[in-house]
Formats: sequence, C-alpha cells, structure tokens
Amino acid sequence: MTRGTTNPNRLRRVDNWIAATCGDLLRDAADPLVVDLGYGASPVTVVELRNRLATAVRPDVRVVGLEIDPVRVAAAEPAAAPPGLTFGRGGFELAGLRPVLVRAFNVLRQYAEPEVVPAWQIMTGALRPGGVLVEGTCDELGRIGGWLLVDASGPRSLTLAARLATLDSPAVLAERLPKALIHHNVPGTRVYALIQALEDGWRAAAPYATFGPRQRWRRTIEATRAAGWPVLDRPARWRLGEVSVPWSAVAPPGTSWP
Ligand SMILES: C[S@@+](CC[C@H](N)C(=O)[O-])C[C@H]1O[C@@H](n2cnc3c(N)ncnc32)[C@H](O)[C@@H]1O
Repeated sequence: MTRGTTNPNRLRRVDNWIAATCGDLLRDAADPLVVDLGYGASPVTVVELRNRLATAVRPDVRVVGLEIDPVRVAAAEPAAAPPGLTFGRGGFELAGLRPVLVRAFNVLRQYAEPEVVPAWQIMTGALRPGGVLVEGTCDELGRIGGWLLVDASGPRSLTLAARLATLDSPAVLAERLPKALIHHNVPGTRVYALIQALEDGWRAAAPYATFGPRQRWRRTIEATRAAGWPVLDRPARWRLGEVSVPWSAVAPPGTSWP
C-alpha cells in the first residue's frame, strides 16, 4: 500500500508524447481501449489522459483507470463518464482487458528491480497484437520524467523529458529514470554515459542560453547525436524538452526478455 501520490497535470509530458507517438496505433484500432494502471489517490491523471487523447487522437477513445487499491477505485467512481472513462480494480494482468495501450506511471518505482521484467511481461501479454506499454516515472509536478516504450518483444525506447524553462542541468534526469535503469546509473554503464553526454552537450551549449532554453536543448541534442548516440526523434520533439534513444543504446547488460 502506498500514499498514491499524484497531481493534476503531472503526466502531461508523457500524455502529449503518447498522443504524438502512439496516435496512429490508436487511430487504426478497431477498439481504441487504453488502460491507465495505478492512477493513485485521485483519478485526475486518468481524466486528463482521456481528455487529451479524445482531443488529439480520436473522440471515441476509451480509457479505463485500474487500481489495485479498492478504496481508490471507489474514490474515482464520481469521475467516471462511461463509455469513454471508467474505473475498476486491477493489477498487472489488466483485469482481463485487452487494450492497445497501457500507461503505467510511477507504479513500478515502488517495486524491486527484479520485479520489473515480469511485470512488463504480464502487462504486454495482455495487450492486443501490436499494442504497447508506456512505463515510467516523473517528479511530483511533472517537470522531469523518463519512460520506456515496451511491446510484446521487449523494451523498444527510452525517452527523457524536462521542462526546459526550469532545467538547471540534464543531470537531474537521472533522478527519474525508469526503475529498470535507475539503479544502473553508475560510471561504466550506457545510461550513465548518456546522461554524461547530455550534460556535456548542455555545458557546451551554454552560449545559446541567451536565445532561450529550447535553443540550448536543441544544441545539446545535436551534440549528443554527433557524439554517436542514436537519437530517435526529431527537432519538433526536442523543442518540447524530449530526447529518445533505442533501448539497445542504454540496456543494462544481462537484461533478458525470454
Ligand atoms: C504513486 S501512485 C501513481 C499515481 C499516478 N499514476 C501518477 O503518476 O501520478 C502509484 C499507484 O499505483 C498503485 N499500484 C501499485 N501497484 C499496482 C499494481 N500492481 N496494479 C495496479 N495499481 C498498482 C498504488 O496503489 C498507487 O495508488
């Protein structure tokens, strides 16, 4: 049992990324069902996810908030607006639902690292074919975060995101790495090297700060790519303070996906 900490707008960065990156998956789905697993003491971030996807992707999207804590399911009930927004009790098995997309945010951080891959496998095993899991962590106000895109074949990508207007250094991103990576952020690992590369780029781009933090971040990502990192996304996403790399670029040794 946890405190269930959440906040309005806490998950806006990942929601906007989901709408942009997974929008076609939802548009093409016969049943655009999305599960938000582990929404916490208030259903506010589920309501926001539904509103964002209904506006940006398709109005008939259905979002189901699932919680393991029955008290939180009862507390969410007044916010339900069926059929587009409902709540229920469920865990990693997703209560028997077959969604095309699952968002599980700030949930696995409460678990031990060896529990992560089995949890991913249970969740992705419940998805419709081609479906995806977005699993990650952020700070309480949603200013920094990190998430993984995982499908039935395993993790695909890591995205790091920050509110650029208040970003002192990309080093803070290390504090909100997904559970699968956070304990590996030590010298000698790929994820440590990535954050170092972002920091080096940020430092070298200091003169661009006069043109605003977006320009500085853009230069930082260009420098990171020039240093050999296989950055996946385009400048339109960088403007939002994001950077994505393939999972293979940061995977800790020994992470297996049977
Ligand atoms: C810190 S809250 C996160 C709330 C929200 N997702 C956010 O990011 O603001 C984590 C929630 O996950 C729930 N939880 C933990 N394990 C779960 C599981 N296996 N299935 C469903 N919910 C779970 C807890 O009850 C808690 O309410």
